[in-house]
Amino acid sequence: MPASISQASSSAGMDPFQNMSHTVIDSHIKLDSSWVTVMCRATRFHITVSHKDIRRSHFETENSEMVAKAIDDDDEEDHDVLCEWIVDPCLPYFRENTSNVPKEITFKDSVGFGIRTLSQGHSRSWDYECFPSDDTVLDLPPFSEVPNSKASDLRIVSDTQWVDYMSEIPQKAILSDDTSRFFKPADDKKQLLREVDMHLRIRHAGLQDKIKVANLHSIVVSDDAKMTIGLLLDLIPSTSDSLYSHKNRALASEYHARWKQQITATVRQLHSHGLVWGDVHPGNIVIDTSFNAWVVDFGGGSIVEFVPRKKVGTKAGDWHGVGKILDEWILEKKRYDLDNRAGYTS
Ligand SMILES: Nc1ncnc2c1ncn2[C@@H]1O[C@H](COP(=O)(O)OP(=O)(O)O)[C@@H](O)[C@H]1O
Ligand SMILES: [Mg+2]
Repeated sequence: MPASISQASSSAGMDPFQNMSHTVIDSHIKLDSSWVTVMCRATRFHITVSHKDIRRSHFETENSEMVAKAIDDDDEEDHDVLCEWIVDPCLPYFRENTSNVPKEITFKDSVGFGIRTLSQGHSRSWDYECFPSDDTVLDLPPFSEVPNSKASDLRIVSDTQWVDYMSEIPQKAILSDDTSRFFKPADDKKQLLREVDMHLRIRHAGLQDKIKVANLHSIVVSDDAKMTIGLLLDLIPSTSDSLYSHKNRALASEYHARWKQQITATVRQLHSHGLVWGDVHPGNIVIDTSFNAWVVDFGGGSIVEFVPRKKVGTKAGDWHGVGKILDEWILEKKRYDLDNRAGYTS
């Protein structure tokens, strides 16, 4: 049922959810219409700000200026400021609509979308129309070889290191047999399709147990099977996020040769079957608890620091990225140390 809130209705007082946090999980900023998706207490809220809805309101100029800045922005700060500007007035609404979240949540609870559009603003407050919508529904063609996991059968792991774990994107799921898998949320359809396709090709090439790439376990779908929520992959046991956490550590030099050999072997195997990793960068290398290097993320995309634009999606691009990471990037600190020591003793 449509409803509306305004900034004026916000009250900070006796609020049981004062420490409620939220995470911006996706956003798209454009002059005519922007949207921000937020995870808050196991509920996703999708907020749309359309220029035509705020025309002639108090917010028209402010919004246009901020959007123009965010689009020009290199270091993303203006982008983040704009996202918070859009999200802030919705916080009271988030509170109202997330008070009944169960203690133990499944992925089903986490996809209750609250959708709202900024409507014509009055004076200094702004109103939202709130309505259920399937704007963000992502559907995949069926993959007969990959099983589906139903959202309500997967429990979300509560991670105590998070202040409010329900307001983060879940990273792990517990299945009905109590085993855990890595959860990769679905956002970009093209990337998701590449990821699934690559995992199937790796399987068909017989590489699954030969290379350090986590197996694709299943596709997470909503209970009515209409929406793809994400992927489950075998969990790489790891105490860190990625190779980024290992840069500048003594360990990195100790294991450097091993990681270089393992990653090179994986990329060589992929290439020998016509498969390109694509998005080569330190964030897509996971070091497990036995200090082995795994390759993750077959969604495509690229970071120009590691793969030059012209080489994206090619074998040459993969080798460029691997060389950049293991022959330059990871050694930066080591060189710095050596230079320093040399300077010190001479
Ligand atoms: N199978 C896995 N097991 C454990 N951690 C993983 C696994 N796959 C990815 N990760 C971690 O999650 C992060 C995000 O996963 P990734 O596939 O790179 O998604 P994105 O497309 O969001 O970059 C990686 O940087 C890595 O730290
Ligand atoms: Mg990645």
